[in-house]
Amino acid sequence: MKRIFSGIQPTGNLHLGNYLGAIRNWVRLQDEYECIYSVVDMHAITVWQDPQGLAASTRETAAAVIAAGVDPEKNVLFVQSHVPGHAQLAWVLNCVARLGWLNRMTQFKEKAGKHRENASVGLFAYPNLMAADILLYKATHVPVGDDQKQHLELARDIAQKFNNDFGVELFPIVEPLILGPATRVMSLRDGGNKMSKSDPSDYSRLNLTDDADTIALKIRKARTDPEPLPSTLEELTGRPEATNLLNIYAALADSSIDDTCAKFAGWSFSDFKSELADLAVSSLSPIFDEVRRLRGDPAYVDGVLRMGAERAERIAQPILKEIYQAVGFLDA
Ligand code: TYM
Repeated sequence: MKRIFSGIQPTGNLHLGNYLGAIRNWVRLQDEYECIYSVVDMHAITVWQDPQGLAASTRETAAAVIAAGVDPEKNVLFVQSHVPGHAQLAWVLNCVARLGWLNRMTQFKEKAGKHRENASVGLFAYPNLMAADILLYKATHVPVGDDQKQHLELARDIAQKFNNDFGVELFPIVEPLILGPATRVMSLRDGGNKMSKSDPSDYSRLNLTDDADTIALKIRKARTDPEPLPSTLEELTGRPEATNLLNIYAALADSSIDDTCAKFAGWSFSDFKSELADLAVSSLSPIFDEVRRLRGDPAYVDGVLRMGAERAERIAQPILKEIYQAVGFLDA
């Protein structure tokens, strides 16, 4: 059986990277797979979150996922902290994963920066919780952006070690689904940095909640280089900003990067940017309109999340029981 799990953190606005790298694929996969999607608030608190803001962001993130087209009747959509099995399995996996494995995680190094000693233990153990999210449902496929690849490789290692240590075939080996031409959307201000919620400059990203004028302005101000657009992919070498904007166009137009290069060969950036802005506005503004409508109906969103948590719990319960038995915990 094919089962998908994926998660998104409720930290600040969702941006184009989240949309093209993950959520749009979540929508597309829902006809083919059984899908379980989670707003991962327990991951969010690995760095400080204002308690008042967290609950609101959690609801808003769920609303954005629904607005982008994830059908909450067909799929399971829930909040991570509503299903205790995530924390329960994470503890078991903390005892399976090795310190050396976690020490190699580049995202921890980036996030902890120079102040490693001051980072929370949760931030260090974050990939174990992520493995628990996936394995609690025995998910087989995980759609994510390119930045999560290393975490998924770790989840595979943890699953394999668990199976070996306890002599079981309990966990499947997880396949990442990193799909489309925009698996790593870069900052609009610096083609060498990933588009991210934590970038201090709002001009670095397109938020799903930006209005049409803001989207057009941010694209107009996006950094470029002095050359016109090239006709082939090879000529994009060493031009990270041009590559990023063309990748974004290709993804939004559902086209390939080769066809996109051919289409805009020789164009100036200013003409290309106005085409890109129109496409971005027409792709993103229906989502924003729907987010705004859902903001007015928090009871609906909360109802979806309650139902989602019940359904997730029903899938997780027997699997957690099987895991506890394999470990040798006395039956409750
Ligand atoms: P998060 O919340 O940072 O991002 C959510 C999804 O968006 C993708 N993404 C991007 N894709 C392309 N370009 C970008 N600039 C960009 N920025 C973010 C991410 O790859 C991700 O797919 N650890 C995860 C959440 C998580 C999870 C899981 C994912 C927790 N448990 C289990 C899969 C399975 C994270 O922090 O994503």
